[in-house]
Amino acid sequence: MVIVRSTLTFQPVLDRIADEIAQTPTRGRPADYIPALAACDPARFGMAVAELDGTVYGVGDWRQPFSAQSITKVFTLALDLAREADELWEHVGREPSGNPFNSLVQLEYENGIPRNPFINAGALVVTDRLHTRTGDAAGTLLDFLRTESGNDRLAIDEDVAASEAAHGDRNAALGHFMASYGNIDNPVPVLLDAYFRQCSVAASCADLALATGFLARHGIRSDGSRLLTQRQAKQVNAVMLTCGTYDAAGEFAYRVGLPGKSGVGGGVIAVVPGRCTLCAWSPGLDEQGNSVAGVAALDRFTTLTGLSVF
Ligand code: DON
Repeated sequence: MVIVRSTLTFQPVLDRIADEIAQTPTRGRPADYIPALAACDPARFGMAVAELDGTVYGVGDWRQPFSAQSITKVFTLALDLAREADELWEHVGREPSGNPFNSLVQLEYENGIPRNPFINAGALVVTDRLHTRTGDAAGTLLDFLRTESGNDRLAIDEDVAASEAAHGDRNAALGHFMASYGNIDNPVPVLLDAYFRQCSVAASCADLALATGFLARHGIRSDGSRLLTQRQAKQVNAVMLTCGTYDAAGEFAYRVGLPGKSGVGGGVIAVVPGRCTLCAWSPGLDEQGNSVAGVAALDRFTTLTGLSVF
């Protein structure tokens, strides 16, 4: 059950953060590799906190859907791990790459095994394996997000998906290259279609904070059923901390001190295990593709509340 409260506990913290962000002139630049993202206004800002029982607090544009992009990589990882467990780790690593999210450079040295599930190459492997196991990776993801957020209107933005496909040469290169090492099951065009649809899910801060709740509940979904074992939930949180913001993961851990995952749509999710989940959104990005105001807001949240894993 989703309960929305706007006055208790976390609300004054969120209000203060929104005030501070409003006074911050530096917002970065929206992603410009597809027109749909380039058109976003970097002045937009929203943030939501979801408690373990589904109570949500929010500020600013917290109910505004935005392009979830690479945030979805957390959910496909969890959905695949729930099905195939540790076998996945024979096909994708779990070390930080230190490289940009769309880099190809390590793949040849490392025999087509991507460094981690959150760089594009690793996410393609995860989506491929989820697609094999479910017949519809993007549909499985969408069902999960709708159920966990309680939002039946949550959908794939088909215009963004088409635009991703039209500008998808680098992801296609990654897919074909890994296929040459036997690390992709599905025909690459089938995989790319699933991956582009996955990236194109439109969801709000409230939706994504709620959908991330299973990671704060040590693997338990919103209806009380188990998605991941406690050990797997710990592992996913750990990989988010070390790899979730790419070549800025060290800086994110230093500033925010939480497992987190960003997307080029400007969203960032974060987990306070055993306590709550967060999502901040602002479309302006830094050089590494992380939301400038989103990371700043999470930094302020952990500083103001003392809620971090450190
Ligand atoms: O595949 C891509 O390159 C984009 N659709 C998603 C990248 C993304 O969000 C990376 N994260 N910051």
